[in-house]
Amino acid sequence: MPGLVIVGAQWGDEGKGKVTDLLAEKADLVVRFQGGNNAGHTIVRDGEEFKFHLIPSGILYPGKTCAIGNGVVLDPRILLEEIDGLRRRGVDVGNLKISANAHLIMPYHVLLDTAGELKLGKLSLGTTRRGIGPCYADKALRLGIRVQDLLDEKILRSKIRTALEPKQQALRELSVQRRKLRKEAGEGDREGAGQAIDSSPDPRLDLHAMTEEHLSYGHRLEPHIADTARLCWDALDAGRTAIFEGAQATLLDLDHGTYPFVTSSNPIAGAATVGAGIGPSDIDEVWGVAKAYATRVGAGPFPTELSDGAGRHMLERGREYGTTTGRERRCGWMDLVALRYAVRINGMTSLAITKLDVLSGIGPLKVAVRYRSREGALLDRFPYHQSILHGATPEYEELPGFDAEIGDCRKPADLPAEARAFLDRVAELAGVPIRLVGVGPGREQVVRLGG
Ligand code: IMP
Repeated sequence: MPGLVIVGAQWGDEGKGKVTDLLAEKADLVVRFQGGNNAGHTIVRDGEEFKFHLIPSGILYPGKTCAIGNGVVLDPRILLEEIDGLRRRGVDVGNLKISANAHLIMPYHVLLDTAGELKLGKLSLGTTRRGIGPCYADKALRLGIRVQDLLDEKILRSKIRTALEPKQQALRELSVQRRKLRKEAGEGDREGAGQAIDSSPDPRLDLHAMTEEHLSYGHRLEPHIADTARLCWDALDAGRTAIFEGAQATLLDLDHGTYPFVTSSNPIAGAATVGAGIGPSDIDEVWGVAKAYATRVGAGPFPTELSDGAGRHMLERGREYGTTTGRERRCGWMDLVALRYAVRINGMTSLAITKLDVLSGIGPLKVAVRYRSREGALLDRFPYHQSILHGATPEYEELPGFDAEIGDCRKPADLPAEARAFLDRVAELAGVPIRLVGVGPGREQVVRLGG
């Protein structure tokens, strides 16, 4: 498996970190290829919990190279906090490499993300407010600041100056609009965020201070800055294994997800080529990670969403609260219409099903096998048209549930027959073999299926 991509097959938070961590054992290089600190994953290692937003989970293995690819957007303050946190816990971060071409999330991106969401009001996307969208927008506008710019004071100052001007104007306009709206509604400044976009100069948007602060980040990050595409080529050309780790997930993909309720990057497998700098023929395997049920954070269509006891069970038993924002996740049954779409669009070769243990105690189990449109048509395929998706109701197949606790199962034969039947049916409907099953949060709590 020299080139292996791992992607989320649903709406994110599927447990990609744990799967990457397990597969990384046999890899030499782990590379993140998109997204930023909107992602978050928790790894439990020997009872100790590690939370990451940017650093690939392979960092916990001594001697493995972990890279943040050019397709990632990186908030240097957050990255340094993660590096410091790992160092404090005795983890060696010497093998962390950061692409010189990755774009930086600047303070104005975070302010714009928040201001944009506040402006949208009820129509907001529910972003993580980490500045992801505005940063990718600047990249496309060719106004972005890249990691390598941190190493040259003149370039950094001039690029910040050019990028800052339109932001100050946009933030001023948003502030005026919001104040007008609040006045009309007879409200005060409730969120406090109004101050962040007030017309008086915001100290966080001072060119000099921002340049100085970022130069100091540059000094600290310099030992890690590298040509990460070359690192990938060298590993692959030498027949070593490289894992390309996606963040977020297929249905949050900017092009192929439930637009506009998506993130601003491409989390599908094909994007590993652009975000890491490799060719399509460098990818040998694509692993999709899906929960045994489904969750979504933020707004947007979610056909199998539940508001009953089963949904509450998934939320509580699955501890479905965001690692990044702490928000409660929306929960629902596994959606095979959406999963088949994810299998196809990623060219998936294997599936990892996580959190099967969470389904213990709910019966019967359900999986959505098709949708019915508002007009009554049966849909076997994920609809490309937003209005059809918004009006789609799932049709379920029921499968017997299981009550036994499965956290100690390590082999397929240890699992209750109903759990095995559930996995067999999911694999059959998805059209791809299940190779790993998560039965608890611990690293060792997995059942391997097949080879
Ligand atoms: P953004 O990526 O912060 O711009 O948010 C856009 C949408 O993607 C929102 O609905 C977020 O909740 C969702 N999102 C972003 N990152 C993640 C993630 O790591 N897991 C789940 N949802 C995410």
